[in-house]
Amino acid sequence: MTTSNPKQVTPAKGKLGVLLPGMGAVATTFIAGVYAVRKGIAQPVGSLCEMGTIRLGKRTDNNVPKIRDYVSLATLDDLVFGGWDLFEDNCYQAALEAGVLNKDLVESLKDELSAISPMPAVFDPDYVKRLRGEHVKTGTSKMHLAEQLMEDIERFKKENACDRLVAVWCGSTEVYREPTAVHATLKAFEEGLRNSDDEIAPSQIYAYACIKLGVPYCNGAPNMSVDIGAIQELARETRTPIAGKDFKTGQTLMKTILAPGFKARMLGIKGWFSTNILGNRDGEVLDDPGSFKSKEISKLSVLESVLQPDKYPELYGDLYHKVRINYYPPHGDNKEGWDNIDIFGWLGYPMQIKVDFLCRDSILAAPIVLDLALFMDLAARAGESGVQEWLSFYLKAPQAAGETGAEHDLFIQQTKLKNTLREWMGEQPVTHSEAG
Ligand SMILES: NC(=O)c1ccc[n+]([C@@H]2O[C@H](COP(=O)([O-])OP(=O)(O)OC[C@H]3O[C@@H](n4cnc5c(N)ncnc54)[C@H](O)[C@@H]3O)[C@@H](O)[C@H]2O)c1
Repeated sequence: MTTSNPKQVTPAKGKLGVLLPGMGAVATTFIAGVYAVRKGIAQPVGSLCEMGTIRLGKRTDNNVPKIRDYVSLATLDDLVFGGWDLFEDNCYQAALEAGVLNKDLVESLKDELSAISPMPAVFDPDYVKRLRGEHVKTGTSKMHLAEQLMEDIERFKKENACDRLVAVWCGSTEVYREPTAVHATLKAFEEGLRNSDDEIAPSQIYAYACIKLGVPYCNGAPNMSVDIGAIQELARETRTPIAGKDFKTGQTLMKTILAPGFKARMLGIKGWFSTNILGNRDGEVLDDPGSFKSKEISKLSVLESVLQPDKYPELYGDLYHKVRINYYPPHGDNKEGWDNIDIFGWLGYPMQIKVDFLCRDSILAAPIVLDLALFMDLAARAGESGVQEWLSFYLKAPQAAGETGAEHDLFIQQTKLKNTLREWMGEQPVTHSEAG
């Protein structure tokens, strides 16, 4: 049932360049996956853009197109990839090094993956203590580094004949820092770039360069970047969509599936202990207390927001929530997310749930990178700018567009995402009421 005015969405024509600051496990699993799907040797499992459907009108209307057939999205054939890293390895070498995908699959994509080499990074070892790399830019100031990134972006766009670009940060988690005066306004931030202010992180320089050029930007890691006042001001000024932060995979995905269910049935929770055992480079970086702090804060925010202990003090007022990350090389990218949940039911009787999720981190993250890239590009073509709260579905610590705070419940996030698409197309939202 079409009702209101649809948005004017410019059709997705021509090539979409996907720029990835950080070309490690997640980025190469995403790129290799897109090539594998293009060649017809694998399925894009986990991608809403490629596999999801959207119901239109009443249930009895039986009108459920694929999302890709409903809104205008770039096709996988239209995607071109580029990015930056402090290691020189091309994507073939980096995918082998990451060890996520089978060697046979990586070999079958050798030509495509070898053709993508990272551009030199903007990097500062004070922000990622466990890494050192030679493939880095030098400059007279942080502003000079931002200008070099902007030159890279423009050159990439021209050389690959791209119609549009989007960027998704897939770089390592930087250390935890509080925002300071330099992050508050665009004027202070640009002054800080010129003075090479210590408080400006490399990830913020990438965000600045992309958004300055109107390239939609999404932050897949938990460190602060598009959530600072200065970058939000820049996004408003250049009318650029932004989203963050931290891909919602593994344990947090499980948490936001389970916790809304307990709450829906008014079951109480006394404790939730979560530990992660992982052995990839991300795990090594998170072994540093500063980087772990960024991750811990992002992971802890979830339960409080879903369970609303202020509204249900008898059920969730005393909840003890603990999150741990353990670097254990033998596990590689195959993370073990282990949860012990102490719940209670009728008359307060206790019960326990144990979840042992033997997951594959980058396999869960890759379709999120794809969907964020395609949906951020859609948002830009729909004339949207600023925080894209409807994409909170994909993010562990989603940014809110308004004052009310972001939603963490996966199912509310999914409804929000689909209803946003319906609204843009001038369709009634689906309410799931008896009448609908
Ligand atoms: N895999 C998941 O499930 C998941 C979930 C949520 C968030 N993340 C985040 O995604 C990011 C990528 O994860 P990954 O497993 O691919 O890690 P990774 O260590 O394999 O890859 C990160 C890459 O970023 C590069 N890098 C670091 N700083 C950089 C900079 N300033 N400029 C350019 N490159 C830089 C590193 O050299 C490395 O190659 C991490 O921050 C991680 O915390 C991953």
